[in-house]
Amino acid sequence: MIQTKGLTKYYGDLAALVDLDLDINAGDIFGFIGPNGAGKTTTMRILATLLEPTRGRAFIDGLDVTKKGKQVRGRVGYMPDFMGVYDDLKVFEYLEFFAAAFNIPRRQRKSIVDGVLELTDLQSKQTFTVDSLSRGMQQRLSLARVLIHDPKVLVLDEPASGLDPRARIEIRQLLQELQRMGKTIMISSHILSELEEMCDHVGIIEQGKLVFTGTMEEIRRRLGVSTMVRLQVVGDPRRAVELLNALPQIRQARRVDDHITVTFEDDSDNDGLIARTLVQGNIDIISLQPEQIKLDQAFLQLTKGIVQ
Ligand SMILES: Nc1ncnc2c1ncn2[C@@H]1O[C@H](COP(=O)(O)OP(=O)(O)OP(=O)(O)O)[C@@H](O)[C@H]1O
Ligand SMILES: [Mg+2]
Repeated sequence: MIQTKGLTKYYGDLAALVDLDLDINAGDIFGFIGPNGAGKTTTMRILATLLEPTRGRAFIDGLDVTKKGKQVRGRVGYMPDFMGVYDDLKVFEYLEFFAAAFNIPRRQRKSIVDGVLELTDLQSKQTFTVDSLSRGMQQRLSLARVLIHDPKVLVLDEPASGLDPRARIEIRQLLQELQRMGKTIMISSHILSELEEMCDHVGIIEQGKLVFTGTMEEIRRRLGVSTMVRLQVVGDPRRAVELLNALPQIRQARRVDDHITVTFEDDSDNDGLIARTLVQGNIDIISLQPEQIKLDQAFLQLTKGIVQ
């Protein structure tokens, strides 16, 4: 649904984007992740037909963005990273303004605006001025705006930035709802863990180059980050460590102070495995808990170029 081939953008001498190849399937939520200045906004602006690439091509729904701009704009909802300033404009006026800009007939505007207000849970704010909304509400309003012309593809530049954890979860639920409605969603972020629960695939970009693309599971494997479980057993932990290390699913079981840490070869649900093995070996468990995944730490290393 979204494809780029050798996409390259120079600003003067600065290579902001170099030979980017992306392929995003219809119905996916694709996370586009990279540090400041990596080229995320540049890519998204090209996809939204707001910026000409220097070289290479980009397609939305099979349409070349540089040649079929009008049709592409009808299929893409682009949410910029900055909302802009709308003095004294009320929420519903803002949305009706964009409905008019997308040539939606006057008679239909109200029902469409009501629909997106409902979807983004902003009905109670419709007579507030845009500037009086909190950051989280403004983000939702931006999303409401890109949905006005019912695009197939959503290109969202850091929709979760600056949001508190709760607003972040709300945005995530909203995006999952939009995915169920059949939309293809590309979403950028600096933070891998912010997207891990909602993305089907991720691409990591650094200094204009794609350094990784794949599923979350593949990225964990690549970064060497696996789920870790911490457990405590009654009595001497040595036999438990031995039993666990004999299992092929377990990468390593290790004694650390009075407990044992276990890492797995892959991400499948392994909790039952430890309990079963220890019970069969007549070892009583005091506690067993999954550890926080050190994904962001590993990600930082990747974007510093430490992990090859
Ligand atoms: N209009 C412009 N003129 C000149 N250089 C630009 C312009 N826009 C972006 N750049 C440069 O291109 C590079 C990529 O910028 P871009 O905004 O695409 O990165 P980004 O990944 O979106 O970063 P951020 O996470 O900070 O939003 C940066 O080095 C930036 O300074
Ligand atoms: Mg950006």
